[in-house]
Amino acid sequence: MDRAAELLFYVNGRKVIEKNVDPETMLLPYLRKKLRLTGTKYGCGGGDCGACTVMISRYNPVTKKIRHYPANACLIPVCSVHGAAITTVEGIGSTKTRIHPVQERIAKCHGTQCGFCTPGMVMSMYTLLRNHPDPTLDQLTDALGGNLCRCTGYRPIIDACKTFCNTSGCCQRKENGVCCLNQGMNGLPEVEEGDETSKKLFSEEEFLPLDPTQELIFPPELMIMAEKQPQRTRVFGGDRMTWISPVTLKDLLEAKVKYPQAPVIMGNTSTGPAVKFKGVFHAVVISPDRIEELNVVNYTYNGLTLGAGLSLAQVKDILADAVLKLPEEKTQTYQALLKHLRTLAGSQIRNMASLGGHIVSRHLDSDLNPILAVGNCTLNLLSKEGGRQIPLNEQFLRKCPSADLKPEEILISVNIPYSRKWEFVSAFRQAQRQQNALAIVNSGMRVFFGEGSGTVRELSISYGGVGPTTICAKNSCQKLIGRPWNEEMLDAACRLVLEEVFLPGSAPGGKVEFKRTLIVSFLFKFYLEVSQILKRMDPIHYPSLEDKYESALEDLYSRHRWSAVNYQNVDPKQLPQDPIGHPIMHLSGIKHATGEAIYCDDMPAVDRELFLATVTSSRAHAKIVSIDLSEALSLPGVVDVVTEEHLEGVNSFCFLTKPEKLLGSEEVFWVGQIVCAVIAESEVQARRAAKLVKIVYQDLEPVILTIEEAIQHNSFFEPERKLEYGNVDEAFKVVDQIIEGEIHLGGQEHFYMETQSMLAVPKGEDQEMDIYVSTQYPKSIQDVVASVLKLPANKVMCHVKRVGGAFGGKTFRTGIMAAITAFAANKHGRAVRCILERGEDMLITAGRHPYLGKYKAGFMNDGRILALEMEHYSNGGASLDESLFVLECGILKMENCYKFPNLRCRGRACRTNLPPNTAFRGFGFPQAGLITESCITDVAAKCGLPPEKVRMINMYKEIDQTPYKQEINAKNLTQCWKECMAMSSYSLRKAAVEKFNSENYWKKKGLAMVPVKYPVGFNSRAAGQAAALVHIYLDGSVLVTHGGIEMGQGVHTKMIQVASRELGVPLSDVHLRGTSTETVPNTNISGGSLVADLNGLAIKDACQTLRKRLEPIISKNPRGTWKDWAQAAFDESISLSATGYFRGYESSMNWETGEGQMFEYFVFGAACSEVEIDCLTGAHKNIRTDIVMDIGHSINPAIDIGQIEGAFVQGMGLYTIEELSYSPQGVLYTCGPDQYKIPTICDIPTEFHISLLPPSQNLNTLYSSKGMGESGIFLGSSVFFAIHDAVSAARRERGLLGPLKLNSPLTPEKIRMACEDKFTKMIPRDKPGSYVPWNIPI
Ligand SMILES: Cc1cc2nc3c(=O)[nH]c(=O)nc-3n(C[C@H](O)[C@H](O)[C@H](O)COP(=O)(O)OP(=O)(O)OC[C@H]3O[C@@H](n4cnc5c(N)ncnc54)[C@H](O)[C@@H]3O)c2cc1C
Ligand code: FES
Ligand code: FES
Repeated sequence: MDRAAELLFYVNGRKVIEKNVDPETMLLPYLRKKLRLTGTKYGCGGGDCGACTVMISRYNPVTKKIRHYPANACLIPVCSVHGAAITTVEGIGSTKTRIHPVQERIAKCHGTQCGFCTPGMVMSMYTLLRNHPDPTLDQLTDALGGNLCRCTGYRPIIDACKTFCNTSGCCQRKENGVCCLNQGMNGLPEVEEGDETSKKLFSEEEFLPLDPTQELIFPPELMIMAEKQPQRTRVFGGDRMTWISPVTLKDLLEAKVKYPQAPVIMGNTSTGPAVKFKGVFHAVVISPDRIEELNVVNYTYNGLTLGAGLSLAQVKDILADAVLKLPEEKTQTYQALLKHLRTLAGSQIRNMASLGGHIVSRHLDSDLNPILAVGNCTLNLLSKEGGRQIPLNEQFLRKCPSADLKPEEILISVNIPYSRKWEFVSAFRQAQRQQNALAIVNSGMRVFFGEGSGTVRELSISYGGVGPTTICAKNSCQKLIGRPWNEEMLDAACRLVLEEVFLPGSAPGGKVEFKRTLIVSFLFKFYLEVSQILKRMDPIHYPSLEDKYESALEDLYSRHRWSAVNYQNVDPKQLPQDPIGHPIMHLSGIKHATGEAIYCDDMPAVDRELFLATVTSSRAHAKIVSIDLSEALSLPGVVDVVTEEHLEGVNSFCFLTKPEKLLGSEEVFWVGQIVCAVIAESEVQARRAAKLVKIVYQDLEPVILTIEEAIQHNSFFEPERKLEYGNVDEAFKVVDQIIEGEIHLGGQEHFYMETQSMLAVPKGEDQEMDIYVSTQYPKSIQDVVASVLKLPANKVMCHVKRVGGAFGGKTFRTGIMAAITAFAANKHGRAVRCILERGEDMLITAGRHPYLGKYKAGFMNDGRILALEMEHYSNGGASLDESLFVLECGILKMENCYKFPNLRCRGRACRTNLPPNTAFRGFGFPQAGLITESCITDVAAKCGLPPEKVRMINMYKEIDQTPYKQEINAKNLTQCWKECMAMSSYSLRKAAVEKFNSENYWKKKGLAMVPVKYPVGFNSRAAGQAAALVHIYLDGSVLVTHGGIEMGQGVHTKMIQVASRELGVPLSDVHLRGTSTETVPNTNISGGSLVADLNGLAIKDACQTLRKRLEPIISKNPRGTWKDWAQAAFDESISLSATGYFRGYESSMNWETGEGQMFEYFVFGAACSEVEIDCLTGAHKNIRTDIVMDIGHSINPAIDIGQIEGAFVQGMGLYTIEELSYSPQGVLYTCGPDQYKIPTICDIPTEFHISLLPPSQNLNTLYSSKGMGESGIFLGSSVFFAIHDAVSAARRERGLLGPLKLNSPLTPEKIRMACEDKFTKMIPRDKPGSYVPWNIPI
């Protein structure tokens, strides 16, 4: 053993030698903190988001090959990279040397917004290109499946990556034999020369070529080391943990004898998350390094033997090869495994995780174990005592000691037998999202018939997700032996399996009825699959499947993607150097892509900096009986614990109308409320100590969690809001029909990629405090910090360089944390940093309000709605935050695009014991709009009309009046609607969908079109005021500062465009450093789609002042440069600095009279979406979306289109897959991306087209532009209604004609359970109240 081992590896071509490494350290903090390579980002810490992707390269001295693979640095123990070369985003290119083509293209194709996900995306793409310089689109989507982006909607990222594919412009759509290159866009004509519209947002011609010879070579030293160095076990000892890396099998077995309880760390993708999130601790770990015996691949006489150390990605390649090489009948099990390996996690995890680790972990939702179990696999075990084989069977999966590994044994390899003739193996899974999501239920099934006998000789069925581990339905299978393969057998099988695989109503994970239904639905799919093959093999003896049933067989999997954009070119008369209206790349695009863009936690540590970790309430409503800090304080490195006692007199702050406590004291009102905060020398110490704070609670009543409970307890925030127009009661008397209904909408997590981050730095002089925060609202941070420090605001400055996504979530909760952090910094006179972990962030900061909408509509038989009565209830959580404003906005925007002549809408914000919900993109509109559209869909169903027709009939006329009596010109709304109909070929496709539905029983398609009218404006003029400061320096360069925050929406880019136009300076001469309360005071919140508009007007004002001052100088020397003019102005004592100001738009609303002029303008749009659903599993596939928007004169079409797409995909997530889950005690279960699923690259529509309406109106706004940030989110509901359409078709075919109530999000669970059939009828149902459910609907 090499006890004094040195850890040696390379990072970006440089050797790193680490003598005192702590085995508990992961590569990500090592890169970020130790090597100061901050391009690699922290997004989740659990392998789920891809922000930390790096490339690992290893040399194999036996094969003499180098393997490059993507990996999640957050799960890689630094000790495991000995001998490896690591490449981070900084290693492939930089603005200081040369940028890499991947970095260039992702930036220039507008694939970055906030940029926080970009380095991870770049590294995934880069690694793919290292292995496949000419990738296919399938490889591309596969490579990016493990990388989340919350801003872009992925389309521009795919476009950038597609430029590397040899078929870059092509959809590669082979399904219908037609390629996109052979057809115009949906039958629309190709662009003519001189066309006023443009279909390109970037120009490929200028891209750097990809030259594989330019890449970093694998360090020769590492090759020599691998070839020549003596094989000695390395041991690294830390404070608490010892890491042993044996390099020979003998040493590994010896280590296992010595430390039988030590886990064998391979990919660390199972052990790592358990240590990090579940508090598991191992004092010793064994991590084999390059032991060849663990990597064997042997084709034996009866099957394939695969080394336990092979990664899942390698297993996938080996199996794909085997399937090609071997006769089909031998590869049934391999094909089934391959099917799941394609969707299992993302590429990074598949490359890290080992086959052995996967099998031995025996996760309840393992995708491979059910197949390996039915495939009769055997495990080859080895210990010092010798080898033995055990079957991978039910006992092994249940960890029965007699069938398990002994502590001193390791799994060497797995034998996966070949299948035989007349043997069939299938795999099934259903997850919340297509890829990179653990299965809700999965299954492996195998049947063996005797030659031509048609009776079952052997049958094995295993399920995952329905018990503590993989469950085998052994008894059921036994009973079915000897039965012929027919419907009676299927029926018996379903009943037996449902009985054997018993799932109690309170089973962990919830979704119990859905899981029970999947159990039998999968069985049915298996039955059909096998029947089809039998028919193919022996057409005489086996009946063919009815055509329409064949639709049950194919899995819904989106493959190739293509997209088109269409926007207006700038006026040909516009000066060529004027950048307004051009698709200018995001100002920080290249820096995002090279990792040089600095976010809050990328800032270097300040001398003697401390770290703050929060301690939060674990109870929804309780009295704090005592807090014991002694254990926490006794931990080395702990400096202090800030409690409410320290904040005496300053423990509350009035953010809006009601004061809120900063730290919970005496009583806590929600799980996740901050109670105290630990300050320590390091992050690790602070987090460890936070876990040791002991709080004793006494539970209090009532605990109100749901809207229904709030209504029952009359628990509301005041006041109630009401809007009334016309005479509703009278109108109800004259209508043909009346319907009543309700819809429930779940909340949404912001899931900005950069978690809440802040650094408070006391200046050491005059009590000054600088605070660097990732926030949308610097002024509010300044105010709350000043208040808690009892200082005037002029002593506290808040600085924001950029924010890694916010979406409304970085306002008041950020202020609370910033205040506590600054308090600690002030108290100790030392800088304090606070960066929330993803789980903490999701727990503490809450998100979009869940809603309950009740409606009563009175309408005529032709679909005209004459009377509408609505009630909105939002779940506000425990304190007011912005709940009232959100509710008001929801009410004011609820009519969406429709003229309801008689309308009454009331709204109440419910006070519950949940974390306070807050602002979120769309601010109440996404909920209110969905309620209205659901009502319209119900009316349409009642009238027997397509919903689109009822939408059209009720739409605003050209000049009309809103319910609050503001005038509206809706001409462009109708225009968007008509263009969207035409662009999507709505009528033709509606007919095609109907035809498809009549021919397919188990798959249904749905098509829906939804309009949007998004009112833009704040609730007061003061809230819309903005200011700017522009300096011209003597060298002619310009510095612009304004009050808006760059959070991905490209505001700084647009602002530079504005300054460039107004001053007439080139874009490259204008710079923007960030936002600070020091340069522009009293800024408003950045939100509400108006940031660019308002601040742009302020910049315009400042620039015009300067231009006016300089005009005489310029006219004296018109051929001069800016340097000349600036110098001349200086010489003449003319100030080269000016402030600019915009007072805000007029805005008023009188809730008493129900009248107001709230909004400055309306953004119009329409979206048409088509989906396909699998009625048996609830899966859905987004086939195509067409969007037409009226955004006025776009300042930057690339940025605006990016906002529309990003918002659309976020909306699609809201309405379909993003589902929060709470325990009956109010504890949030969905505390990370492993549980909470936002859309990935696989979820976006296969075809995605955006077209901007030619600008037609002159508005009172910045260059007649419209703010684009929020409106697109509602268009995501077109996917909701397309699914609704598909589900309705399924129900109609099954004779279910009653009203259809579908709540949001429309998850696989809801889709499946709504498509009622014999299987949903077959499952046992639990009587409500007879069990305690695992989770409750909020
Ligand atoms: C983000 C993410 C997404 C995921 N998605 C999916 C998914 O969609 N579907 C799915 O099925 N799984 C999924 N997983 C789980 C993943 O498949 C497993 O974590 C992985 O296969 C475990 O392998 P490992 O090498 O990383 O194990 P490690 O964490 O290294 O080890 C796990 C355990 O196995 C033991 N062990 C490992 N090798 C041996 C050996 N040779 N002999 C004896 N014991 C051994 C160790 O002692 C340890 O107890 C996901 C995991 C993550 C982190
Ligand atoms: S931070 Fe590593 S995957 Fe999210
Ligand atoms: S740009 Fe991808 S998360 Fe912001």
